[in-house]
Amino acid sequence: MALTFPKPSKLISFSLLLLINLALNPWEGSGEQQNLVFFLQDVSIGPNATVAPVAGVKGKEWSYNTFGTIYAVDDLVTAGPNRNSAPVGRAQGLLATGALDGSNVNIFLSIVFTNLQYNGSTLQIQGVSRQSENYREVSVVSGTGRFRFARGYAALETYYYDPNTTYSIVRLSITLLNSSDGH
Ligand SMILES: *[C@@H]1O[C@H](CO)[C@@H](O)[C@H](O)[C@H]1NC(C)=O
Ligand SMILES: *[C@@H]1O[C@H](CO)[C@@H](O)[C@H](O)[C@H]1NC(C)=O
Ligand SMILES: *[C@@H]1O[C@H](CO)[C@@H](O)[C@H](O)[C@H]1NC(C)=O
Ligand SMILES: *[C@@H]1O[C@H](CO)[C@@H](O)[C@H](O)[C@H]1NC(C)=O
Repeated sequence: MALTFPKPSKLISFSLLLLINLALNPWEGSGEQQNLVFFLQDVSIGPNATVAPVAGVKGKEWSYNTFGTIYAVDDLVTAGPNRNSAPVGRAQGLLATGALDGSNVNIFLSIVFTNLQYNGSTLQIQGVSRQSENYREVSVVSGTGRFRFARGYAALETYYYDPNTTYSIVRLSITLLNSSDGH
């Protein structure tokens, strides 16, 4: 990650810096970006729930608005917004209400691809989701397989929400720095 790189000495020439940077950051070379859009099919309650509270503060209600509540997630990921559109993989991991006032949830998710194009590869998504906002931006911190060394960000937006069944469709738009070696 860029933040952890040691500060380069000012004596090193710009072109040398560029070379070092390219060697450390193969994704930075082209400077181009690629965008992938998927949809998460999220069910909170009922026999087919894909999200379950697994831990929380003793004596308090376990909910998205209660600090300390942790959820396990395994959402279906589809190519289009419709639940029956082509499956792409699963979004598996944890959500944790990380704000004392319950306003923010921390996201720790792996997109586990099973579609033909990215089968066996994963993307790791992490960050704070401000629950009151419809546009929530988190980091793409890395990946595996075709997404090794991936860097970028992911926007989560509620596409559809049915409060009766707590079924929601979340649009996931992933922007990655394009690999310079053609990945
Ligand atoms: C749960 O999933 C099964 C299998 O897909 C389906 O038949 C059933 O109707 C679903 N139940 C609910 C409450 O959505
Ligand atoms: C994905 O890979 C697994 C394991 O190699 C294989 O069983 C499966 O058929 C593959 N799926 C697709 C869509 O290629
Ligand atoms: C939710 O339930 C109410 C009352 O039963 C109903 O009027 C409404 O249409 C339902 N909403 C959806 C999106 O199904
Ligand atoms: C990313 O790189 C690939 C391979 O070089 C190329 O085909 C694709 O068009 C690039 N995408 C963008 C958005 O630049």
